[in-house]
Amino acid sequence: MPRAGLDKDPRDVAAMFDGVARRYDLTNTVLSCGQDHGWRRRTCEAVRARPGERVLDLAAGTAVSTVALAHTGAWSLAADFSLGMLRAGRHRSVPLVAADALALPFADGSFDAVTISFGLRNTADPAAALAEMARVTRPGGRLVVCEFSTPVWRPLRTVYIEYLIRALPAVARRVSSNPDAYVYLAESIRAWPDQRALACQIAAAGWVEVEWGNLTGGVVALHRAVRPAPRHQAEAR
Ligand SMILES: C[S@@+](CC[C@H](N)C(=O)[O-])C[C@H]1O[C@@H](n2cnc3c(N)ncnc32)[C@H](O)[C@@H]1O
Repeated sequence: MPRAGLDKDPRDVAAMFDGVARRYDLTNTVLSCGQDHGWRRRTCEAVRARPGERVLDLAAGTAVSTVALAHTGAWSLAADFSLGMLRAGRHRSVPLVAADALALPFADGSFDAVTISFGLRNTADPAAALAEMARVTRPGGRLVVCEFSTPVWRPLRTVYIEYLIRALPAVARRVSSNPDAYVYLAESIRAWPDQRALACQIAAAGWVEVEWGNLTGGVVALHRAVRPAPRHQAEAR
């Protein structure tokens, strides 16, 4: 079974997710000790989608996160470049589309909000993905990034790193169809920027009003930002 490296070669990443797709939702719930449901609920709340809005759920995988967005009444689209993940989610009653986060097949300003959960870390070029998300969001539209981050309390951070290195691969060997993918998960989380550094990357990609909140003590962080209106963009230059 393939696993990606930290260079995040897109073919390796897509193949790896194709390989874990069948048991992806279950594995997530087991490895997060059921925390994933709360993280998804909080992400959905942060998007603040309203009926009639158009929301893009990027790197949506099996579209489990898209379903929650659709319940708000917003038209919610799941996009991912792993056909295996999309196939595993095709029973869900949301529109699904194959798309690469680095070259989105949408016109400028197509969406009121764009969100990405546990996907940005897996892209080969997060800065380019953030810029592409800004391009397809209308001026004044919102971004919500849900991603693993750095626990703020040192003892929790120590326990969490031990969990990533030792327990997570062992548990994955029991429940996942591709345990090596979860070694990649642990490595990619440890190499990922902390809350403040990610906020800087989001701002550098042209977003404004960047803020974040911690979930589960910072194991996960929710970053929110706004696509600037044209006047604001001119000032920023
Ligand atoms: C950990 S899964 C997250 C899936 C879903 N968002 C969730 O919260 O369960 C990461 C997803 O990112 C997708 N992905 C990674 N790089 C991508 C890219 N460049 N374009 C589109 N999808 C990408 C993978 O195919 C995979 O489905």
